[in-house]
Amino acid sequence: MKTTAAIAVVSGLVSCAVASPAKRSVTAITVKGNAFFAGDERFYIRGVDYQPGGASDAKDPIADATACKRDIVKFKSLGLNTIRVYTVDNTADHDECMNALADAGIYLALDVNTPKYSINRAEPEVSYNKVYLQSIFATIDAFEKYDNTLLFFSGNEVINDDATTSCAPYVKAVTRDMKSYINSRGYRSIPVGYSAADVDSNRFQMAEYMNCGADAIRSDFFAFNDYSWCDPSSYEISGWDQKVAKYSNYSIPLFLSEYGCNKNTRKFEEVASLYSTDMTGVYSGGLVYEYSEEGSKYGLVTIDGDSVTEGADFTALKTALAGTKDPSGDGGYKSDGSASACPTKSSTWNVTIAADELPAFPSGADEYLKNGAGTGPGLKGAGSQSSGSKTTQLADAASGAVTSGASAGSSTSSKGAAPSMHMGEFSMGPLVCGIIVLASTIFGATLI
Ligand SMILES: *[C@@H]1O[C@H](CO)[C@@H](O)[C@H](O)[C@H]1NC(C)=O
Ligand SMILES: *[C@@H]1O[C@H](CO)[C@@H](O)[C@H](O)[C@H]1NC(C)=O
Repeated sequence: MKTTAAIAVVSGLVSCAVASPAKRSVTAITVKGNAFFAGDERFYIRGVDYQPGGASDAKDPIADATACKRDIVKFKSLGLNTIRVYTVDNTADHDECMNALADAGIYLALDVNTPKYSINRAEPEVSYNKVYLQSIFATIDAFEKYDNTLLFFSGNEVINDDATTSCAPYVKAVTRDMKSYINSRGYRSIPVGYSAADVDSNRFQMAEYMNCGADAIRSDFFAFNDYSWCDPSSYEISGWDQKVAKYSNYSIPLFLSEYGCNKNTRKFEEVASLYSTDMTGVYSGGLVYEYSEEGSKYGLVTIDGDSVTEGADFTALKTALAGTKDPSGDGGYKSDGSASACPTKSSTWNVTIAADELPAFPSGADEYLKNGAGTGPGLKGAGSQSSGSKTTQLADAASGAVTSGASAGSSTSSKGAAPSMHMGEFSMGPLVCGIIVLASTIFGATLI
């Protein structure tokens, strides 16, 4: 407690010295039970996926302030509150676009991976390494300061069939490490979770796996892509009623990271179901794939140079969203729920690592927890996928994980985990982040 007092004094002295680079004009989103909240209001994601140029063409769309502002006009017209971006350059300046999004009441769901800095499903053990973590931690550094950073995706479609379910422990380890980094740097508890591919056979196991075990290694949310509602359809014909039943006990927020089947004319009739109480007890909205036309006929608009042309899908989505209000009250969310049971090995779930073990935090990477990640490699770096070793060191699943009392989901430190740091009890404002970092550096050094 002596430490607390000392920190409080120092924070008083320097609280104005740390410049806030972003306007903080939106309420940061928090997780309660299986839902997102903006203050006391339930928050449902009404979003689109935004990656003009395509996801594999690594170009940072929110580093381009002019294009960003041009597209924000369209986002507002659609009635969105969230965009998802798949790739950013962690060396670029995002202030202008992030501020403009905040002014429009729009949040960012961000994938921290890039084509060169990501887990390689063919060699997860080699691609999970210190060089990789430096890049994704630097991305966290670049976005934690914006209150409209809604959440971070720790991975996207790493598992794309039953054979690649063996990657799951690496995805979970990365999620653990991102949460540790956020906590050890004293950042706001920005939710971290995984975005699963539209693969029916193992998706539920992955949802369970990411939400099982010690609190320090559980995700803050789970998202999946779902193209199963193809207009004309219905809640029952699409099978969405079955999914709601299946996930009915799931205890963390669940949402669609991509939706919008384009087999037939899109009317986005699923929107009315997604934001109705049929689903809101279990789901928290979703993101339509995707904003710009990239050759696969999923685009709502066509971008040609500086001009943006709205397609029929744009009008259809706009009409569907405008005609669908959020449910009143809390939408029937569950304020408490327990961790899932870890799935057992089966023909569709090939995880051979025991549920209470995970790949150990890569050697040498603990320096980032203590000192910060430093400058990221951006999109031009040499990449990290071959920087590790073929041997996976296993450790107690939460070993070395840094937990925080301010964390959205939970505050307990778990078996093998570092003691929780309870940053929340200092009640410091966002401007004193420098001091929180100092405090966690001191604690961090004794924890690792
Ligand atoms: C399951 O994963 C292990 C490695 O973790 C691999 O050796 C084995 O071939 C996989 N089995 C199947 C059926 O994919
Ligand atoms: C949800 O939990 C309740 C109480 O434990 C249980 O009876 C029910 O079968 C569970 N439902 C599902 C779909 O797992």
